[in-house]
Amino acid sequence: MSMNVQDCGVVREGFPRPFPNTPSNAVEQFKMTGKVVVVTGAGDGIGLAVAEGIAEAGGNVVMWYNSNEAAVQRAAKLSQTHGITATAYQVDVSDVDQVIATISKTVNEFGKIDVFVANAGMAISKPILEMTVEEYRKVMSVNADGVLFCAKYAGEVFKRQGFGNLIITSSMSAHIVNVPTDQPVYNGSKAFVTHFGKSLAREWREFARVNIVSPGFFDTKLGASPLAINEAYRMSALGRQGHVKEIKGLYLYLASDASTYMTGSDILIDGGYVLP
Ligand SMILES: NC(=O)c1ccc[n+]([C@@H]2O[C@H](COP(=O)([O-])OP(=O)(O)OC[C@H]3O[C@@H](n4cnc5c(N)ncnc54)[C@H](OP(=O)(O)O)[C@@H]3O)[C@@H](O)[C@H]2O)c1
Repeated sequence: MSMNVQDCGVVREGFPRPFPNTPSNAVEQFKMTGKVVVVTGAGDGIGLAVAEGIAEAGGNVVMWYNSNEAAVQRAAKLSQTHGITATAYQVDVSDVDQVIATISKTVNEFGKIDVFVANAGMAISKPILEMTVEEYRKVMSVNADGVLFCAKYAGEVFKRQGFGNLIITSSMSAHIVNVPTDQPVYNGSKAFVTHFGKSLAREWREFARVNIVSPGFFDTKLGASPLAINEAYRMSALGRQGHVKEIKGLYLYLASDASTYMTGSDILIDGGYVLP
C-alpha cells in the first residue's frame, strides 16, 4: 500500500539527495573529456554515429564490432581526427564468455567504463508461422541475451566503481506492432530490452543511470526493407527515414552530464511514425 499523509511526514534520513556537481553551462554539460564509452555494433549505422558523437565531444570510445572489420579503421580515424583514444574490439555479444572477457579487457586498458551503449541488434523479419525455432533463438541471442550479458557484466563494473550509465538501443517496434512486415520475434525482443532497461534503472539507482532509445526507421542496414519502404515513408509524419546524424545527439545527451536527472526513460525518435 502507498504512503498516507502521516507516513509522508516522517523525514527519511539521507533525503533529499544532493544535486550533482553538473556544470550549469549547457554546452559544458555535453563535454565528454576523459570519459570512456563502450558502444556495441559500432562498425556502422547507428552505433558508428554514436561513437562519432562521443569522439566529437572529446570522449574516448571503445568500439565493439562482430563481423565488420571496418570498425578498426574507423576507430583509428576517430582517434586521429579528434585527438581522443578510440579502439575496436571484436566480440560476439551473444557469447557470454566473450562479453565477460572484453569488458575485463576494456577496464584493464582504459581503467573504467563511464558509459556502455548496448546497441548491437539484428532482425529476421518473418511471421512466426514461417520462422524456425533456430531463427527465433538467433534473434533472441543477440537482441535479448546480448543486451542482458552486456548489462549484467558492465553493471558489475558500474557497481564496483560507484558510477555508470547504460544506454540500450531498443526500437519503436517495442511500442507498436510495426507494419507492413510481420516480425513478432523482433518486436518482442525489443519490448524485452525496453522493460529490462527500465527495471535496471530502479535496481541500479544507487550507482548508475539506465535509459532506452527507441528509434523509428533509420537509413542503415537494419532500416526499412525494400518491401516496406513506401509504407515507412507514408507512416512517418516527416515522410522519410532518419539519417544517423539525426540520432547521435540524443545518445550524446544521454551519455553526458546534460541528462543527470534522466533514468528509466525510453525516448522515441521516429519522425512521428507512431503518432497515428
Ligand atoms: N535502422 C533502423 O531502422 C532501426 C530502427 C529501430 C532500432 N534499430 C536498432 O538499432 C541498432 C543498430 O542497428 P543499425 O540500424 O545501426 O543497423 P546495423 O548497421 O546493421 O547495426 C547492427 C549492428 O549490430 C551488430 N551485431 C549484430 N549481431 C551481433 C553479434 N552477435 N555480436 C555483436 N554485434 C552484433 C552488427 O555488427 P557487425 O556488423 O560488426 O557484425 C552491427 O554493427 C540495432 O539494435 C537495431 O535493432 C534500428
